[in-house]
Amino acid sequence: MSKDIKVALVTGGNRGIGFELVKQLALNGFKVILTSRDSEKGYDATQKLKELNLDISFVVMDLDNQESIRQAAITVNEQYGRLDVLINNAGVYLEENKKLVDMDPSILERTMATNFFGAYHVIRSFIPLMEQQGYGRIINVSSEYGAMSEMSYPGVGAYKLSKLALNGLTRLLAAEINGDIKINAVDPRWVSTDMGGPSAPRTPKQAAESILWLSTIGPEGPNGEFFRDGKRINW
Ligand SMILES: NC(=O)c1ccc[n+]([C@@H]2O[C@H](COP(=O)([O-])OP(=O)(O)OC[C@H]3O[C@@H](n4cnc5c(N)ncnc54)[C@H](OP(=O)(O)O)[C@@H]3O)[C@@H](O)[C@H]2O)c1
Repeated sequence: MSKDIKVALVTGGNRGIGFELVKQLALNGFKVILTSRDSEKGYDATQKLKELNLDISFVVMDLDNQESIRQAAITVNEQYGRLDVLINNAGVYLEENKKLVDMDPSILERTMATNFFGAYHVIRSFIPLMEQQGYGRIINVSSEYGAMSEMSYPGVGAYKLSKLALNGLTRLLAAEINGDIKINAVDPRWVSTDMGGPSAPRTPKQAAESILWLSTIGPEGPNGEFFRDGKRINW
């Protein structure tokens, strides 16, 4: 592989915003690793994109399973020896329209496990590859629901807390990581996917475009910030 080709990895790349991110990164010249927790779905999604002559490979990674994340990092290290862009996109929305104290606690636990701890373990496992080359761009796909101001309104508690924690992680890691490694969070807005539903006004392509620019920001670019449509938002 040419040294000039940058390698990008997307979690939850088999459908929705993640699938579109994989496609757009490949169209922009990245060698892209599509990851999915399900080998069949991941393989099928990868094949679909390969038919468009895009440079994509597939690695299994389940965010709820630390060993799966560790193995994926080993595979990427062995096969590519580098990682330039990491997009923590995979997420779940398990809400059942109940107050936090009334919901089955497993809803909160499972949501935190994927949306927060999953992203944390992925970053933890892949950051050594970035530190090795002193370069990396990490993007956490968050949500407006993760803004502190959203905590003033009832409902969607598990999802909101998971994204609030993800935003906090983004800022904290930005303060801790050295070198030209930048980590930012993005709200893709309301997007027409399985999670967003058919009424959502934004397409996955529009969402992906609003996320992609953070993959290529220079050394003076933002770090530890939260964006919507390319604009910094308060949280
Ligand atoms: N859609 C919206 O309106 C919207 C708004 C704000 C933020 N977001 C955020 O955008 C991101 C993508 O959402 P989306 O709308 O594309 O959702 P989606 O269509 O439901 O897709 C979710 C993706 O995450 C994967 N995933 C879930 N749990 C996983 C796990 N444990 N390990 C690995 N992969 C896992 C799914 O894999 P499977 O196919 O195996 O289930 C799927 O690929 C999420 O973080 C979401 O919170 C979405």
